[in-house]
Amino acid sequence: MAETEAITLPTRRPTPFDPPSDLAELRESRPIAPLAYPDGHRGWLVTSHELVREVLADRRFSARSELRHIPIADNRQAGRPAPPGMFLSMDPPDHTRYRHLLTGEFTVRRMRLLTERIERITEEHLDAMERQGPPADLVEAFAAPIPAVVICELLGVPQEERERFRAQATTLMRADVPQEEKISAYLAMQAHMTQLVQAKRADPTDDMLSGLTKSDLTDEELANIGFMLLGAGLDTTANMLALGTFLLLRHPEQLAVLRSESGRAAAAVEELLRYLSVIPFLVRSALEDVELGGELVKAGQTVTIHLPAANRDPGRFPDPDRLDLLRAAGGHVSFGHGVHQCLGQQLARVEMQAGYPALLARFPSLRLAVDPSEVPLRTDMLIYGVHRLPVTWEAK
Ligand code: HEM
Repeated sequence: MAETEAITLPTRRPTPFDPPSDLAELRESRPIAPLAYPDGHRGWLVTSHELVREVLADRRFSARSELRHIPIADNRQAGRPAPPGMFLSMDPPDHTRYRHLLTGEFTVRRMRLLTERIERITEEHLDAMERQGPPADLVEAFAAPIPAVVICELLGVPQEERERFRAQATTLMRADVPQEEKISAYLAMQAHMTQLVQAKRADPTDDMLSGLTKSDLTDEELANIGFMLLGAGLDTTANMLALGTFLLLRHPEQLAVLRSESGRAAAAVEELLRYLSVIPFLVRSALEDVELGGELVKAGQTVTIHLPAANRDPGRFPDPDRLDLLRAAGGHVSFGHGVHQCLGQQLARVEMQAGYPALLARFPSLRLAVDPSEVPLRTDMLIYGVHRLPVTWEAK
């Protein structure tokens, strides 16, 4: 294929739950294909499960923000190196140093200990929803606030500051907000986070930020880490909870599986993660020339890694477009792969394993309150999902 034949990133979804249809054909015929980026860059799009994992595991592909091009029209400023502490956009060894400081805070054991607290937070939100009565917006009443409360408690963000952080993080995640508005939300959030870090240093409490003040990290590094965790932990899980519920309501037979076999919640959550892949793509840039899937990726070129396409690869998951909560969906790439693989994945799993079954048990007659076509989809956001999910149920 000549450079002129480069495609643009397919983004039109045939249904709210399926990736753009063109990707299946592309994965079959050209799993690494030339991609035209809106800023004029010519790079690549990778769609097969095997190649996606290969790129994410290969240190010759960099996550540094100053090297990357974004495959969608996006007004985020490219070309800036990650600020101190924002290790999501750094390579080893800088990345390794920060990541090691945090892995102890996110162990499976620590997250299991948190399970009871997360279950209580979930029940409190369901109580409030029940008291309020039907109908409700599931995003506002359930999916958005639960991960927000959890991450704020974990970090030690005081109650009165949580709503402000949530609003600022939402502004930052929008793809359609003017750059100036994003910059002011970013600066305001950074200032609040710095104040919070200074308060924790002066008067440590039993939370993650206080714990991290004992390390040799500066206030700026700590503020940026807190900022990154808030950003990473809010929208992702919230969208999985809301979009996952929408999907289950459209698949009553699968919903019945989850309801009747609560012991299988962990497997069901993996399948929902695989099937929905709320983070559509990741980007990496080649530090040197790399042979990949029979193509030459030249030094400096950006590779877009399509997570939903990889998760629907029939070479890895038989009959991949069928939702099957009983399948073994392990090996999906919804949490990424390699050194940057999601640090909060155990936390997210606990939230979802508690969330879906508790919601379904509390409201046995839960259903959509509008026609499915009226559910507003987050096609305008960097993380996919629904803006609102109007639901109703028979009140007792
Ligand atoms: C369903 C929910 C979630 C999904 C689908 C998700 C997905 C991802 C993905 C795909 C990456 C890799 C990014 C890359 O390679 O460039 C990532 C990284 C990360 N995630 Fe998550 N995430 C979720 C929840 C969370 C939560 C709850 C937290 C924390 C509080 C969190 C914190 C992080 C952090 C800190 C990184 C960066 C890790 C690194 O660079 O080493 N995530 N996540």
